Amino acid sequence: MNVLLIGGGGREHALAWKIAQSSLLDELYVAPGNPGTVRHGRNADIDINNQKALRKFLLEKRIRIVVVGPEAPLVDGLHDRIVADPELNEVCVIGPKAEGARLEGSKDFAKEFMFRHNIPTAAHRTFVKGQLQEAIAHLDHMSAPYVVKADGLAAGKGVVITNDKKEAARTLRDMLQNDQFGVAGERVVLEQHLRGVELSAFLITDGTAFKMLPAAKDYKRIGAGDAGPNTGGMGAVSPVPFADKDFMQKVHDRIAAPTVRGLRKDGIAYSGFIFMGLMKVDGDPYVIEYNVRLGDPETQAILPRLRSDLLDLFEGIATGTLSERHVDVDDRTAVSIVLASEGYPGKYETGHEIGGLDLVRDAYVFQAGTTTKNGKLLTRGGRVLAVTGMGRTWRTPSPPPIGRPLSSTTKGSTCGPISATI
Ligand code: AMP
Ligand code: GLY
Repeated sequence: MNVLLIGGGGREHALAWKIAQSSLLDELYVAPGNPGTVRHGRNADIDINNQKALRKFLLEKRIRIVVVGPEAPLVDGLHDRIVADPELNEVCVIGPKAEGARLEGSKDFAKEFMFRHNIPTAAHRTFVKGQLQEAIAHLDHMSAPYVVKADGLAAGKGVVITNDKKEAARTLRDMLQNDQFGVAGERVVLEQHLRGVELSAFLITDGTAFKMLPAAKDYKRIGAGDAGPNTGGMGAVSPVPFADKDFMQKVHDRIAAPTVRGLRKDGIAYSGFIFMGLMKVDGDPYVIEYNVRLGDPETQAILPRLRSDLLDLFEGIATGTLSERHVDVDDRTAVSIVLASEGYPGKYETGHEIGGLDLVRDAYVFQAGTTTKNGKLLTRGGRVLAVTGMGRTWRTPSPPPIGRPLSSTTKGSTCGPISATI
């Protein structure tokens, strides 16, 4: 079968790498892809927002499955547009329609959903434009730290957590009155602060059955020792050392199952991934947020552990037979480390040459912010590469001194290499 994968980051390189291993695959196209994805399929230069161009591509290339990596096209209704097009009724989209994508696209929607279906999450109140004074007054009924969230997608910048009530009030004003967060901030969620440790759990569903995928923990801060400003994610580990079988059973029973059941009850047909951003509080899971996609860099740590054929799972979604498919997971630990441009997550330079990838022997190298020019591989983004290693043993080391080169061999690692030449 022919597959179109949408996206161009490290997550999509990992997805392309995994999909390309399937015996069910004929042709893989990635739009726009990156220099890493061309190793596993063909990069396609199509404007997915142009329905005519998209339709032409899907028909010409006889695409059966469209896998959507990032959330924005789903929130914007890409799935709805494909389903509404009578010429495309053979195409199955992995990723929800706009209504289901509201789980990520609107924090208020997600909170109301969880409330309706008894899914554990922090207590909250939502305020809309015109309710600024009520929102500020509500801070008096809360205790610090104050959690203030813009309702809509805000490129990871829509959450402010502060001990200072005045700063919380200022944030409310910026969102509800000064339009500093655009439409995302026209509705604001004030939330109880949860104290615990975070992790990412994932499931795949055809709307009826679901399968848990390996969980991961990502590390968001830029610096060694989990210090400094937040980023999109600097690395991930899977499985999560503090999420044992009992805890993951609670995630399955209290979060995953009621989420899929809740979508059905609400009449929301959902196909694709659900990323449950969780806080472990006193041994119990609470939902911090839903995402309607896989995580980045979590994907680069979980897919190398997935033994099952991913395309077989997608076919299960396409035919409504996911319940009959199996998810088989490698019990080794995967650790993925992101190599970022100097300066990231602030201003950074691009255009630096990357060398040595062909020397990698016992790790997977997934490309994100890279480009090619005159046959050379160059940096192009903040997060440039994710390098994933696997092994049977793990321990928590003290942070290495900055600048120490990574060891190129890891005793005990048995994972096969992917050639990183482009
Ligand atoms: P979100 O975009 O909702 O995932 O929030 C971004 C980050 O803010 C999360 O990854 C958490 O680290 C933190 N956060 C969000 N909500 C809460 C909460 N209710 N309690 C504690 N931390 C939170
Ligand atoms: N690593 C967190 C995310 O993908 O949202």
